[in-house]
Amino acid sequence: MTSAFTTRYGPWAVITGAARAQGLGAQFAHELAARGLNLVLIDILETELHATAEQIRSTYSVQVTPVVLDLGGRDFLAELAAITDPLDVHLLICNHFFTPKNPVPFLDSDLSTHQQMLDINARAYMTLVHHFGRRMRAQRRGGMIVVGSGAGLVSSPYTAGYSANKAYQLTLGEALWYELRQAQVDVLVIPAPLMSTQPTGMEQFPKALMMHPRRVAREALAALGKRHWVIVGLTTKLLLFFQTRILPRQRSIRMSGDFMKKGLGLED
Ligand SMILES: NC(=O)c1ccc[n+]([C@@H]2O[C@H](COP(=O)([O-])OP(=O)(O)OC[C@H]3O[C@@H](n4cnc5c(N)ncnc54)[C@H](OP(=O)(O)O)[C@@H]3O)[C@@H](O)[C@H]2O)c1
Repeated sequence: MTSAFTTRYGPWAVITGAARAQGLGAQFAHELAARGLNLVLIDILETELHATAEQIRSTYSVQVTPVVLDLGGRDFLAELAAITDPLDVHLLICNHFFTPKNPVPFLDSDLSTHQQMLDINARAYMTLVHHFGRRMRAQRRGGMIVVGSGAGLVSSPYTAGYSANKAYQLTLGEALWYELRQAQVDVLVIPAPLMSTQPTGMEQFPKALMMHPRRVAREALAALGKRHWVIVGLTTKLLLFFQTRILPRQRSIRMSGDFMKKGLGLED
């Protein structure tokens, strides 16, 4: 049976960063497949991507096309468009991200690493929403979800480049939400909470802030078309409200810096 969701956002969805079984992208994939959408899943991790695609294919009656692609490449769009142009895509979820495995102060990372992050986390997001947004606007139907981070709302020392990339995503997505309203294209941004998605490196962050990615995916899909953003989790909502509305900005940055230093186990 075709649901209102499928009629509005189907029959094909594109999700980036969808390889890891525990990751948010794969959780979106399960949620959308359960609603009957066919999927183009994109990631740089070949083995994990094929495993996730196979798992979804064997669980739901949908088509799944895995695309192994480096979204940091300057010409990735030509390759992707060749695959997606023949498909009726009405939902895009920009979710992939790259950060160095061991965060360090901004100046201690090579310039090339920051440039690579800009390409993957900002340039690729811009390219994807521009390409698929144009197609959806022309057909006056669709949705785009931009997965940002709380680190895009409050500057996050020790992941300064990532934080700036996330601010770019959030502001781009919010402006597009406004611009595309009349074209019947729904844009939703998620300042995503901390999630139990990474195999290592999250142990020292407070458990109260850690959300399950399936819940984040569900709440995001429920908010699409109704709101312009969604913050998942009461503790994260309260923390971001406190940091963005109550604390003076400098205190808020200090708080984030101290939090990151502790969470990442960094010395003064
Ligand atoms: N997890 C959290 O606590 C948290 C908190 C706030 C916001 N978020 C946001 O939520 C989203 C999903 O996070 P997640 O933890 O679920 O991520 P994840 O499972 O690690 O998924 C991200 C995927 O993108 C891939 N990727 C990296 N560079 C790429 C490239 N050049 N081309 C194509 N794919 C590439 C990654 O591969 P590699 O693993 O090889 O890099 C990884 O498979 C991200 O936008 C993240 O910023 C996450």
